[in-house]
Amino acid sequence: MFTSDIIRSYQEQTLEWLRTPSSFDIQQIAQLRDILKFHEHRYYVEDNPLISDGEYDILYKLLEKTEEDHPELITSDSPTQRVAKGLTSVFTTVQHLVPMLSLENSYNAEDLRDWDRKARELTGLDTVEYCVEPKFDGASISLIYENDLLVRAATRGDGVEGEEITTNVKQIRSVPLSAPFSKFGIQQIEIRGEVLINKNNFAAYNAQLVAQNLAPLANPRNAASGSLRIKDPKEVGRRNLEAFLYHVSDVTLTGEMPAALQSHSASLELLWNMGFRSPVKQMKVFPGIDGVIDYCAGFEAGRDELPYEIDGMVIKVNRNDLQDKMGMTTHHPRWAMAYKFRARQGTSILRRVEFQVGRTGSITPVAKIDPVPIGGVTVGSISLFNEDVVREKDLHIGDTVLVERAGDVIPYIVKPLAELRTGKEEPIIFPTNCPVCGDALFKPEDEAVWRCINLNCEAQVVERMIHFVSKDAMDIRSLGESNIRKFYDLKLLHDIPGIYALDFEAIGKLEGFGPKSITNLQEAIEKSKQQPLHRIIFALGIRYVGETTAKVLARAVEHLLDFRNYSEEKLRELEDVGTKVAGSIHQFFSNQDNLHLLEQLEKAGLNLKNTQKGQVAGGSLSGQTFLFTGTLTRFKRSEAEELVEKNGGKLLSGVSSKLNYLVAGEEAGSKLEKAKKIPTVRVITEDEFLQLFG
Ligand code: IVH
Repeated sequence: MFTSDIIRSYQEQTLEWLRTPSSFDIQQIAQLRDILKFHEHRYYVEDNPLISDGEYDILYKLLEKTEEDHPELITSDSPTQRVAKGLTSVFTTVQHLVPMLSLENSYNAEDLRDWDRKARELTGLDTVEYCVEPKFDGASISLIYENDLLVRAATRGDGVEGEEITTNVKQIRSVPLSAPFSKFGIQQIEIRGEVLINKNNFAAYNAQLVAQNLAPLANPRNAASGSLRIKDPKEVGRRNLEAFLYHVSDVTLTGEMPAALQSHSASLELLWNMGFRSPVKQMKVFPGIDGVIDYCAGFEAGRDELPYEIDGMVIKVNRNDLQDKMGMTTHHPRWAMAYKFRARQGTSILRRVEFQVGRTGSITPVAKIDPVPIGGVTVGSISLFNEDVVREKDLHIGDTVLVERAGDVIPYIVKPLAELRTGKEEPIIFPTNCPVCGDALFKPEDEAVWRCINLNCEAQVVERMIHFVSKDAMDIRSLGESNIRKFYDLKLLHDIPGIYALDFEAIGKLEGFGPKSITNLQEAIEKSKQQPLHRIIFALGIRYVGETTAKVLARAVEHLLDFRNYSEEKLRELEDVGTKVAGSIHQFFSNQDNLHLLEQLEKAGLNLKNTQKGQVAGGSLSGQTFLFTGTLTRFKRSEAEELVEKNGGKLLSGVSSKLNYLVAGEEAGSKLEKAKKIPTVRVITEDEFLQLFG
């Protein structure tokens, strides 16, 4: 699509406009659009950008401003036209040009050989050429381009009719708004593909849901199909969806059939060359079935390494004339076959539901099922998150349930198999009182979870201690979860200050605690007294106060107890502190028990003073941003991060043009790759990092 001459001239012009934006002339608006489309393609389709996000934004704004001043110059495929205004009220039903059929499934080499035999019979050939590509596990879509413009996108629906989702699909940057089909005599084309959310974006999205006590989505497939039907296109844009386009289902030509449409692999190449993200890099053509079988096995072995989920491979007869000859049933084409990977689902019986009390008193129902192996792991316990999830799924004790575990995703009950019910199933009854302390449970209006609000509830006390000593909090490793539980049960530990007054003589008498482990424990506890204020704040487990907010709070005061005098309003003035967070912090510091806890900790030797205050501004790294990646061998990551902050530097969580230094340890991966593509990011080693401090 882009020859090296074009790439060079685009890049020269890009740099020229970035250096001297005033050199842009309104006559160049079409060129500016082409160049923006080129950079979008490098980023979203080829995953190989030539400019940073910030530089892209500068050019985008230049176009936006020019179009604002000259609305008569706006074209419908301008990069600015992806942005939608307002909400979608209803998704209208539309008919597909060609029904979207399903695929027949195969599960092993024998199934594939049987199918190959049939294909040879139907075509009358000795060998049939196949094209193999991944079976993307997302939501299928159909796109229609007319006179080179994207005019309609639709969901699969029932295969005959789907829902019109053009505005939402325009938010997917790898889907071109226009493509030069007319050059090939194509007046109208219908293209099929799959919308996905990659594993990283899925995990980040789920983490957000869990942080809000909401049920995470079961798998990236559900996340993708749900995202396509959101009424706010801007939210769709935020979900970072991607699309692979893998099939030309219909064309209206003005002349002869172009050679590029005479085979499946050639049509994928054509799409790629026109700017579509078709699976050209993943596909492979084989002269017969033998190679196909090996190729499928190779992908199955490496599926966890891919950035997105695939649930199998699709094998297609490559020549289009042979596809026509083989035809289709009402359900699937005879010329294509899905090869399904080993299932990551299993069935089991739901025996009972336990209700666990979390650190903040949240009550989580946990399903106990007969242990079942899924994808190499035995699953016996599955979180059900909250009451709504149980009600929505209509789960009953005694139900046979379908369980799924996709890749590293936590196991999830997909649904009960209602048709297997015997009538003896029992409803799941939610407790009205805390299963640990017996206090009445309470459900805040805007929340999905029930809570025990007794701060002295044993379960919460223990969970709070477990959080307090955890790695990202006070990092007292030798005092992990099991020791906390043991010491609590033996009445050697009652509360957080008790950690600093443990009776080591008594512990020494317990089985498994020799002099060495006692010394380790003592040392670890002693060392934790040196932890900086932000770690103490995070360790307190104040609701909604994560590590980042803890750092903001630590920087704001001279002494932690100063927060006693902070109103909610004053708290809201702090960076990233909204109404909910401010309310929670205020509540914490208004509670006498909590203030007493802090006084005890100070007496025990913890430093509640902000030793860093005043040191930050003007530090040697002032104004510089850092990110660490890979395995660090010279120092612990947390130590290095603290060093940066102590010297006035700032930590970023991802690679972007805002980043000044990426410190790359051993086996650094995607962050390093991304950083290398952004000229303004300096990639340095651990040694070079240390040299920054002289
Ligand atoms: S071809 C007429 N190719 O799998 C044939 N489908 O289980 C059209 N899918 O409905 C389908 N990856 O949503 C094809 N590389 C691929 C695919 C693929 C995923 C989906 C598609 C289809 C479903 C069938």
